[in-house]
Amino acid sequence: MKVAIIGSGYVGLTTGVCLAEIGHQVICLDNNQKKLAKLKQGQSPIFEPGLENLIAKNLKNGKLSFDDNIKSAVKNSEIIFICVNTPPKPDGQADLSFVEAVTKEIALALNHDHKIIVDKSTVPIKTAEKVKETLLHLSVDEAKFDVVSNPEFLREGTAVKDTMAPDRIVIGVDSDLARETMLKLYQPIIEKTKTPVKIVSVRSAELIKHGANTFLANKISFANLIAQVCEEADADALEVLSAIGLDERIGNQFLSPGIGFGGSCFPKDITAFKKTLEILGIDNNLIQSIQNINDQAISRFIKKIKKELWDLDGKKIAVLGLAFKANTDDIRNAPVLKIINELKKDKARIIAYDPKAMENTKKIIPDIEYAKDAYEAINQAQALIIGTDWEEFKRLDLHKVKELMIEPIIFDGRNIFDPSLVKTIGFRYFGVGR
Ligand code: NAD
Ligand code: UGA
Repeated sequence: MKVAIIGSGYVGLTTGVCLAEIGHQVICLDNNQKKLAKLKQGQSPIFEPGLENLIAKNLKNGKLSFDDNIKSAVKNSEIIFICVNTPPKPDGQADLSFVEAVTKEIALALNHDHKIIVDKSTVPIKTAEKVKETLLHLSVDEAKFDVVSNPEFLREGTAVKDTMAPDRIVIGVDSDLARETMLKLYQPIIEKTKTPVKIVSVRSAELIKHGANTFLANKISFANLIAQVCEEADADALEVLSAIGLDERIGNQFLSPGIGFGGSCFPKDITAFKKTLEILGIDNNLIQSIQNINDQAISRFIKKIKKELWDLDGKKIAVLGLAFKANTDDIRNAPVLKIINELKKDKARIIAYDPKAMENTKKIIPDIEYAKDAYEAINQAQALIIGTDWEEFKRLDLHKVKELMIEPIIFDGRNIFDPSLVKTIGFRYFGVGR
């Protein structure tokens, strides 16, 4: 099938590459010329395990191409995916201006050849109706199309794996033709991985996405609430949460306490969902509490550091990990960056290291030092902060770390170390909830 993907970011690129990989003819579009130039060379503009290899492979075999001409791509494709960003507006609502802009461009290219317009961007309930209205309003009278909602559940860091073998595929449709076309598109994945498919209404599909992200964020904030109790009452949050998670109805995933959730999605999506509740006249206190606890995760962590280190002026603090989570170079809403900015206000001397996210961080925090590896950052440090749970930090030689540091103090924002082990080695150790 011929597919056009509009918006070649995390979601658009991964979707496009994976659809090419299963045999479709895919054109990925973007209006960012720098990004397009890289992509045309087979290079990925983002770090995502496995992605660059698949871009290069499918570019070479002719299944994948990149362009900026939406109109001609729409004309030549059967299915058009909208994968543009939906950032938050100042009041928390999702900014749908990019979705609107590309919808208008699509409208101008529609004709009597039937097209399926698929919204994959994360949007509030009823957005597809707006897309449909806009297409009807701006396209020629004989234009034939369906609007589908097909939310994306991939996680950064495992995006390719999540797309090639997803937990579920959700397809919101209101016509048989659209349903059959979408099933045909995903057939190779469904067959190979026995992926459950949920065919639902368009509105339900939109709500499933916001509901899923809010539920996951809720689990993390619950874990951080338990961590607060453990810190005040001297218990171990990891012991408590791992036992709670053994109940199959609860499950162990997304119950790790730490410095809170960040990234380009949870913070923005729960804020947008909170706004939707407000617009619908539904109490949104639950979401407000999720956000409050997430903010407290950072403020309590900073308080711990300040209490322990006292005057920060001139103190050398090593920060390992800048990305919002491991296996990505994405620093959008990374909790550790908020911590760095707070410590900077007290004139701490920050030396940071991250395996992938330093170039991105340098652009927004140029006035700290960056080390070439973890040990260089730690050398002569008066404290060590773990900001991201990269595997390489879990494997650090802690005896060497202790030798290198002036003061062996660890503030472990991701609970990657065993407290009794690090204490035996001679560190003062502060995890979250332990
Ligand atoms: P992104 O910012 O990485 O990519 C969006 C791309 O769209 C950019 O390359 C941008 O240049 C392009 N774009 C914007 N306006 C355009 C226009 N008018 N014409 C052509 N291209 C245009 O965003 P993302 O992380 O891929 O997220 C996209 C959507 O998917 C968002 O709604 C997000 O919430 C959702 N989502 C993201 C993830 C994730 O892990 N990043 C997962 C699931 C869902
Ligand atoms: C999240 C969802 O997991 C995806 O299903 C969804 O598609 C995506 O948002 C989206 O809509 O964009 P992602 O943001 O890539 O994916 O990362 P997660 O693995 O969910 O982690 C989000 C944040 O929560 C990270 O900062 C992570 O460190 C934190 N986290 C996660 C915790 O603090 N504790 C946990 O137990 C799990």
